[in-house]
Amino acid sequence: MDLGLRDRVCVVTGASQGIGLAISARLAGEGAKVLMVARGEERLQAAAEPLGAEWLAADVTDPDCTHRIVATAVEQLGGLDALVNNAGTSARVPLERLTDDDFRDQFELSVMASIRLMRLAAPRMAERGWGRIVNVASSSGKRPSASNAAYSVAKAAQLSASRVYADAYAARGVLVNAITPGPVETPLWMAEGGLADQAAQLAGTTREEALASARGKLPIGRFATPEEIADVAVFLCSERAGFVTGAAWSVDGGTVPIIV
Ligand SMILES: NC(=O)c1ccc[n+]([C@@H]2O[C@H](COP(=O)([O-])OP(=O)(O)OC[C@H]3O[C@@H](n4cnc5c(N)ncnc54)[C@H](OP(=O)(O)O)[C@@H]3O)[C@@H](O)[C@H]2O)c1
Repeated sequence: MDLGLRDRVCVVTGASQGIGLAISARLAGEGAKVLMVARGEERLQAAAEPLGAEWLAADVTDPDCTHRIVATAVEQLGGLDALVNNAGTSARVPLERLTDDDFRDQFELSVMASIRLMRLAAPRMAERGWGRIVNVASSSGKRPSASNAAYSVAKAAQLSASRVYADAYAARGVLVNAITPGPVETPLWMAEGGLADQAAQLAGTTREEALASARGKLPIGRFATPEEIADVAVFLCSERAGFVTGAAWSVDGGTVPIIV
């Protein structure tokens, strides 16, 4: 299947590792022109160069970076056809320890950063009558997880924002969707001090026991690879997803037991 992504200009946030890197690699493999965004310059540059992608070091929670991201895509790559709002993070924090700042930080990163980029990108895409936006939310946005309520609440709000933009732009050729991954083998989980280590520490178990327990909660019995998430995101960025908008596609190994 030809995804029709050749020479499309695609912006991916949170692109220096994990899911964002896998999405960038798949897009570049399809012949798209990719602008990769993350905060840490060294890792980002090292990730982008082998893909032949452009990169821009920016913190998406900084409102000033929104224009810089879109301007870089337009001036250096010639336009903006697809936007993937993927930057996000989490930590294991029991409900009673979550602070106002924890909720605000999650809201800034998952919701406001996505909204600011959609607000600038969607009208520009609409002018040309073609655009794709994919918001990388989480299964926790559909079924709140006890591991970090601030993350779950923000991801639910990100799903709502995604739907709002889908409704507003569907008639103008700009299709907006979200995906909701379950646990994925990325540095967020697997790096030293990541979610696996944090879960082990909170439960008083080993890291392997914590990972086995997390896998045991998944009907499919294992974590996703970043590439399995990227395949769905890239399809939604493509010409072939022409009748999909307003969706929140589960890519969660069966985690959230609903059929809508
Ligand atoms: N892994 C999972 O199990 C899982 C499950 C469901 C949903 N998700 C979602 O998938 C997305 C990617 O997760 P991941 O597992 O790939 O995470 P990851 O391995 O921690 O990678 C996160 C990426 O985002 C960048 N980033 C973080 N904060 C940023 C900011 N403020 N501005 C710009 N870039 C930023 C990071 O680079 P810098 O630190 O250098 O900025 C990095 O490139 C997130 O939205 C996450 O919530 C992940």
